[in-house]
Amino acid sequence: MEPVNVGLLGLGTVGGGTVNVLRRNAEEITRRAGRGIRVSHASARDLGKPRICPTDGIKLSDDPFAVVNNPDIQIVVELIGGINPARELVLAAIERGKHVVTANKMLIAMYGNEIFEAAHREGVMVAFEAAVAGGIPIIKAIREGLSGNRIEWLVGIINGTTNFILTEMRAQARDFSKVLKEAQRLGYAEADPSFDVEGIDAAHKLTILAAIAFGIPLQFDKVYTEGIRQITPDDLNYAEQFGYRIKHLGIARNTEKGIELRVHPTLIPERRLIANVDGVLNAVLVKGDAVGPTLYYGAGAGAEPTASAVVGDLVDVVRALTSDPENRVPHLAFQPHALSDVSIVPMEEVESAYYLRMNAVDRPGVLADITRILGDLGISIEAILQKEPAPGERHVPVIILTHRVKERSMNKAIVDIEALHTIHKSVMRIRLEPLD
Ligand code: NDP
Ligand code: HSE
Repeated sequence: MEPVNVGLLGLGTVGGGTVNVLRRNAEEITRRAGRGIRVSHASARDLGKPRICPTDGIKLSDDPFAVVNNPDIQIVVELIGGINPARELVLAAIERGKHVVTANKMLIAMYGNEIFEAAHREGVMVAFEAAVAGGIPIIKAIREGLSGNRIEWLVGIINGTTNFILTEMRAQARDFSKVLKEAQRLGYAEADPSFDVEGIDAAHKLTILAAIAFGIPLQFDKVYTEGIRQITPDDLNYAEQFGYRIKHLGIARNTEKGIELRVHPTLIPERRLIANVDGVLNAVLVKGDAVGPTLYYGAGAGAEPTASAVVGDLVDVVRALTSDPENRVPHLAFQPHALSDVSIVPMEEVESAYYLRMNAVDRPGVLADITRILGDLGISIEAILQKEPAPGERHVPVIILTHRVKERSMNKAIVDIEALHTIHKSVMRIRLEPLD
């Protein structure tokens, strides 16, 4: 049987890795897919640029639409990134009846509903395993492997750059900006690294995970998002003294009030496996009602780990080429007409335990004022730690761990504590999840 012709949009890190994996493992891939998979046409902006992969035997264009419009191409792989021209290219490919594979989490999180509707109309597949957690087959695990379960919650370290930064700050006491520069040099960070450090990349990925876990439309604008810029080495240290690690987590939880969708730094007990996932690695913990908690762990970024997911999608598409479109795995795991309109819980209604760090004047009565504010709002304290003042310092760091309380009450407590004249600067708040 003739090999399937693939058109590749983008020959950068992931595009180059994809060509290399397809060539190196051609025999195994053909045995698995039932047909060879050949990149026959590819595009990049600058055709003179050196590449990490061979390009012999591949027709090259600097216009990506030339690839999409090539009648010999059956599957288009979009590895450009960003919204435009990626969105126009993907929609154009679908309109021409071509299947699409993409690693573009921003595109799927923001325009996936439109893209899947178009794909459903045209009877083509859009596969996006590489969009979440790089090489970890988490989409397949939730969409297919766990399809007998009601998913209760999932929690993930889904951005390698922020995990790398927090790990280096904790283990090596390194400075945030120096570690970020290194993450960029190592190729972990997005083209605009604020997408990583502000939590936007993780929010894109959480949007996708929540949709396939709970059968809801993609709702990126409803994700509460906080980054890691405000975390200091002191916070990492104090958390450790209480037996916790600070991780930048994406959390999606199906509750009676609706679905919680949030990305923020979080204290988790250091004895949990996920608390020990360090460096650029990713991990996703998924709790199904039948299976219980399951953990998926591996490389969250990089040329070949991400290519592994892209090629896995290509094999799936080739295997399904001849099957009836109505009987394929649905894009968002649930049949399109069966998506649920369950609401997303506003952040003020979410309940969590908290870590609070504040700088207080070192004199009697100050702690009593703070605990009175917390007590009046029904916030109970689990632990409290007051450090020695630094030489010549009038203020001492006070760290408090609280029991679970609604975000609304904690917001009010923080406003009241910050209004005390004995409190210097703002209160640092990090949410705490026991994950039990
Ligand atoms: P790169 O920047 O390395 O590659 C992008 C490619 O697209 C390059 O070949 C570039 O051409 C081409 N390109 C860029 N802009 C345009 C444009 N306007 N028109 C046509 N071609 C264009 O990106 P990555 O390979 O790192 O990322 C690709 C996708 O994979 C993104 O969506 C990213 O979020 C996602 N991803 C990346 C991971 C990673 O570890 N890198 C992990 C998981 C997902 P030229 O080379 O000539 O500049
Ligand atoms: N910038 C992303 C990360 C790349 O650090 O996780 C993989 O999606």
